[in-house]
Amino acid sequence: MTDRTDASTSGMDNHANEARSFAPPAPFAAQANVDADAYGLGADSERFWADQARAMLTWKTPFTQTLDWSQAPVARWFADGTLNAAHNALDRHVQAGNGDRVALYFEGEPGDTRQVTYAELLTEVSRAANALQSLGVKTGDRVVIYMPMLVESVVTMLACARIGAPHSVVFGGFSADALRSRIEDAGARIVVTADGGWRRGAPAALKPAVDEAIAGLDPSHPGVDHVVVVRRTGQEIGWTQGRDLWWSEALEAADTRHDPVFVEAEHPLFILYTSGTTGKPKGILHTTGGYLTQAAWTHWAVFDLKADSDVYWCTADIGWITGHSYVVYGPLVNGASQVIYEGTPDAPHRGRWWEIVQKYKVSILYTAPTAIRTCMKWGEQIPAQFDLGSLRVLGSVGEPINPEAWMWYRRVIGGGSTPIVDTWWQTETGAIMISPLPGVTATKPGSAQVPLPGIGATVVDDDAAPVPNGAGGYLVITKPWPSMLRGIWGDLQRFKDTYWSRFPGIYFAGDGAKKDQDGDIWLLGRVDDVMNVSGHRLSTTEIESSLVAHESVAEAAVVGAADETTGQAVVAFVIVRAQFAELVTDPAQAAALQEQLRNHVGKQIGPIAKPRRILIVPELPKTRSGKIMRRLLRDVAENRTVGDATTLADSSVMNLIARKM
Ligand code: PRX
Repeated sequence: MTDRTDASTSGMDNHANEARSFAPPAPFAAQANVDADAYGLGADSERFWADQARAMLTWKTPFTQTLDWSQAPVARWFADGTLNAAHNALDRHVQAGNGDRVALYFEGEPGDTRQVTYAELLTEVSRAANALQSLGVKTGDRVVIYMPMLVESVVTMLACARIGAPHSVVFGGFSADALRSRIEDAGARIVVTADGGWRRGAPAALKPAVDEAIAGLDPSHPGVDHVVVVRRTGQEIGWTQGRDLWWSEALEAADTRHDPVFVEAEHPLFILYTSGTTGKPKGILHTTGGYLTQAAWTHWAVFDLKADSDVYWCTADIGWITGHSYVVYGPLVNGASQVIYEGTPDAPHRGRWWEIVQKYKVSILYTAPTAIRTCMKWGEQIPAQFDLGSLRVLGSVGEPINPEAWMWYRRVIGGGSTPIVDTWWQTETGAIMISPLPGVTATKPGSAQVPLPGIGATVVDDDAAPVPNGAGGYLVITKPWPSMLRGIWGDLQRFKDTYWSRFPGIYFAGDGAKKDQDGDIWLLGRVDDVMNVSGHRLSTTEIESSLVAHESVAEAAVVGAADETTGQAVVAFVIVRAQFAELVTDPAQAAALQEQLRNHVGKQIGPIAKPRRILIVPELPKTRSGKIMRRLLRDVAENRTVGDATTLADSSVMNLIARKM
């Protein structure tokens, strides 16, 4: 392990004295979708998941095999069955007479709204699927989607699924460079985008980044044949004749009926890139049958979804896995009515989210701790102005939630009684793995607590032995699960090395965790070179590579420093090249360079990766074997007394660095 373990476990202190627990209210438990028997059923996990796959999904060809683990660690679930994801999300609801049910309540940031029923969504997805096919997209082709949160974004994902063309959604906050490398890695020849989206009252452009990404494609890439553009902001944009076309025109010309392409359960559904411990993002591959089974079952069980009466709202962007599993696939496969919102929580005012909850009578809300902490900072008088009485389940995802934020969420947003489900999972796991069940579990503030039925998860020590209650270690998944990643796109070896080599035969999640005296699991943050900033995964190595790519930087070390609101914040330590050394002795010049470097990272990776602080230092603390001791840098970044530096090759280095603070 890297020297990072110690910092992650610092969160343990927060939890050490946490003894509160809240049983589900009796009326809630009485009506819950799932009771405690589910754990018993889940003990036979293959049978359990096979039952869910039959209950939650409609199969074109029923499967007869459940799990094929003979090519571990690449699993095959329900492999001889065939189905289509869009058919499960749309057609079957319409065929069952629920076509008039609202699928999406779209709320644009400027206040424009749109309601789309399941029947309407089916028509639009069918048109889009026909349009994509007429542009040459075939089953198996990859389609890159670079869009804001719009109805069209959901439509595009489902249109791809309908023709069996795996989508790769790139978060709109990523830069042209990041987009280019994903188009290249996925080998995509078509990009669906928008002119831009609304952010904090202003249009934020997207199309220029697509143009720049395509212009910079490596010559080995066959080129992007078409860019389909949704008109959202009406901004002026560049246009390449023959390549670019408007979404509205492409759809208008398309037929409203489309026969879904039924694919094998193991057919790729999507690739989603996420940060790993090296500089190169990993294309996480998910397939169809197992992924949909677990996304749908967990959405139904963990949120206690009642499709005909709940209004569900997950605040995640479709650019992240949460948006895939709990905005698009889980809820729509379950026939839910849900809100999607384009903008930020503070536009045009800091009560916007709560106004939306009140307006649509949202009953299930799923969001991230960073958002809760931001709302805490703004003050409880803001949500108090709105009627939040419709809420009956609250969810949290993306990073550990501190007990204080959990209690605030329950009291201020949940009226003091609404069950909170703290859901642990990852891009790689595809769906929720560890979470309370709202009608069963007595919840504890700050703990994800229990593996879901059918899921094997535990905490182990360095030798893969499960730790006793009260002890900490590494979170691992001990059994294959239906929505597990099927690999890293184009790099099977990296998949094996990253997840399956630390503890042979079991999945290493990269998270530190502890078991409390009851055996409940508390997540403590990453133990590898991955940071978590506002619930977004960022790689220290990727940001370091970006910094050293700048002409002024000789060496760089990046750490995630604890931050009250965002969980972690990116702090970079850089050594400048000799020819810049003189320059940075002048504070104004140094400040200008720091700003330049922040923007450089913003341009290479995306604004979310911009370091909060950049410190120009004369040296970096290294062990005798040359490894940077980030633990010490984190001490500096978090204004702590610097810890044990005895393994440093040159122990005077920390004094030099501390003087720079
Ligand atoms: O460190 C864990 C943290 O987020 C990581 C996964 O990030 P990503 O793939 O971007 O997916 C985020 C949304 C599922 C995990 O390795 N994480 C996620 N949920 C929790 C969490 N940490 C603690 N508690 C959670 N509930």
